[in-house]
Amino acid sequence: MIRTVAGVAELRAHLAGWRERGQRIALVPTMGNLHPGHHSLIELARRNADRVVASVFVNPTQFGPDEDFARYPRTPEADAEGLARAGCDLLFLPGVEAMYPLGVEAAVRIRVPGLADVLEGAARPGHFDGVASVVARLFNLVRPDVALFGRKDYQQLQVIRHLVRDLAFAIDIVPGPTVREPDGLAMSSRNQYLGAEERRVAVEIIRNLRTMREQAALGLPIAGIEQEALERLAAAGFAVDYAVIRRADLGRPEAGNEAGLIGLIAARLGRTRLIDNLAFDEPLDAC
Ligand code: PAF
Repeated sequence: MIRTVAGVAELRAHLAGWRERGQRIALVPTMGNLHPGHHSLIELARRNADRVVASVFVNPTQFGPDEDFARYPRTPEADAEGLARAGCDLLFLPGVEAMYPLGVEAAVRIRVPGLADVLEGAARPGHFDGVASVVARLFNLVRPDVALFGRKDYQQLQVIRHLVRDLAFAIDIVPGPTVREPDGLAMSSRNQYLGAEERRVAVEIIRNLRTMREQAALGLPIAGIEQEALERLAAAGFAVDYAVIRRADLGRPEAGNEAGLIGLIAARLGRTRLIDNLAFDEPLDAC
């Protein structure tokens, strides 16, 4: 069984022992309902540190009023077992009082300008304020040397990098690759909301990202590639929030500069919102 702590004092006592021994500490922040994508982050963390802490906290401040906070899957026993198997040393399982000691309404919010307002930020107003605010708290509580985040939430990764640079957290941010189902669908806790027919259609997201990559490699105009992807996804039954090509920093690509482009899609199938992305310079067999 993995050692689990819920309180801040207990967490700090545990970490202090490791620090006294000069051990490098990794943090993998999660919202639980862990799948192989999370487990691969734990394994990557093991290769980057002596000790690995995972946090499981379904953070209320990053969900909008009409989103799935209440029904977000909570599976603490299975999470603990999976973390132990993947090589995690400590599970931090805080309640709301530990993360927001003054209450959620009185909580200090951190806003990353620009990034917080586009793509995911435009579709989910306030989402990245909640993410940045909870991650900053986790960084202060754990004070890790390194923290790991999946590339599947690409914009989140950029928000965290901005946060770390601007607030001078002495933490290395290590991205983990997107882990996919055999048909290419990116693993996500939200995939289990999909009905059988929706699950069959969901693979169109990665198929469209691959097509966007192929069309960009042929030098086709970006606006046309985006429009076609949007139309194909809508025809397959998605309500599309965006299907776009951006630079690695999420700025709009400049004509004639195709280096480091990334395709990003967010679309809903019924009540399930799915996101995925594909770096166009990733090797073709990687995804
Ligand atoms: O990616 C997630 O699971 C969450 O956004 C995170 C980083 C754990 C913050 O709540």
